[in-house]
Amino acid sequence: MRIAVIGSGGREHAIVETLAREKNHEIFAFPGNGGTDGVAENVPVPEGSAEEILAAVLEKQCEMAVIGPEKPLVDGLADCLREKGVVTLGPGAEAARIEGSKVWAKRFMERHGIPTAAHRVFDSFEQARAYIRKEEKYPLVIKADGLAAGKGVIIAATPEEAEQTLLNIMVEKQFGAAGDLVEIEEFLRGRETSYLVFCDGETFLPMATSKDYKKVYDGDRGLNTGGMGTFSPSPLVDVPLEKTIQETIIRRAVEGFKKDGIPFTGVLYAGLMLTDRGPQVLEFNCRFGDPETQVILSRLKTPLSQVIRAVHEKRLHDLTLDWDDRAAVCVVAASAGYPGTYQKGKPVTGLENVKHARVYHAGTRKLDGKVYTSGGRVLGVTALGESLEEARETAYRELEKITFEGIYYRKDIGSL
Ligand code: AMP
Ligand code: GLY
Repeated sequence: MRIAVIGSGGREHAIVETLAREKNHEIFAFPGNGGTDGVAENVPVPEGSAEEILAAVLEKQCEMAVIGPEKPLVDGLADCLREKGVVTLGPGAEAARIEGSKVWAKRFMERHGIPTAAHRVFDSFEQARAYIRKEEKYPLVIKADGLAAGKGVIIAATPEEAEQTLLNIMVEKQFGAAGDLVEIEEFLRGRETSYLVFCDGETFLPMATSKDYKKVYDGDRGLNTGGMGTFSPSPLVDVPLEKTIQETIIRRAVEGFKKDGIPFTGVLYAGLMLTDRGPQVLEFNCRFGDPETQVILSRLKTPLSQVIRAVHEKRLHDLTLDWDDRAAVCVVAASAGYPGTYQKGKPVTGLENVKHARVYHAGTRKLDGKVYTSGGRVLGVTALGESLEEARETAYRELEKITFEGIYYRKDIGSL
């Protein structure tokens, strides 16, 4: 089958490799990266333009598509592809608002009784400022409503910081129109975990549990990033907790979408805080996580294309997913400076020496057969092991074989 994978990150490289292992497909990456190049045909497209991606996918006559990033989903690419008869993994524009608008997502959660932090919404800077000046419980979490490339959530420790953040978002328009509405919410304490399910609009099928490390430095310090590493399964989520997550969060969301008349077809990702009041939703994403996908798909034994077809045909209730019992750890190597400014174009060496792990490329490109850095998160080394500890040791041992100028990675991925 001819399959389109849309996006250019480590997540998309993992999706391409997973589909390629099925052997019987021709895979196209729109636009892909230095790692997908060769496994798939990289098709250059501007990533911001759903229209151009659509035209390119149709031109390549793809019969199936997986949409990695949120932006094209929010822009309605899945609707257009399905309309053209392409078997597509990803929700339509309406359901993708669960990620596209934080205010919409909060209203959805309230409507359907899904536990989440208490919050207020503001469209006026003056009113928001009056609120944070009166508020006594700090830190406060301030979120720009729209998509802000993972940078729209600020944890303000003091009223001064909160006021500066509101100025940046609502007056200076640091994130453009994404900051027209701002949500201010209670700071939740606990451990964070990700929970992903496939969803066919009627029912859902959980993926293996996983945990992401969002902060840039060891010990969860520093700025938020797209994710510096992951592991699966997550010992933080035992069987009773998983049941609670499924019943109080996932099932309510899936039923909620149905009741609202916008059934969700694709991957639903709940970012959770495990608090002493139980699991609370920090955010929903309408797609696979990056780098959660790298560890989850490393453990998936059921052919991914079968799952995608079952989602499309609303047959998830007929399917069970088989998982490798081993643990997986993914350590992300980034360019020095990320998530702030960083340099690009540095040669990546030593890739050929990695024998016991998979290297999923993210910000790389290939030129004359050589690999160069081209982004903040450059690659993720993903290893399997009989235990989390073994997978972690292997991932780090293999990662040490790779170098590029300014390479930076956390040293504590996989340690709880
Ligand atoms: P989000 O994009 O909404 O998941 O937020 C990004 C990150 O900010 C999360 O992964 C958390 O680490 C943190 N965060 C978001 N909301 C809260 C909250 N209410 N309490 C504590 N931390 C939060
Ligand atoms: N790893 C976090 C995300 O994909 O949003």
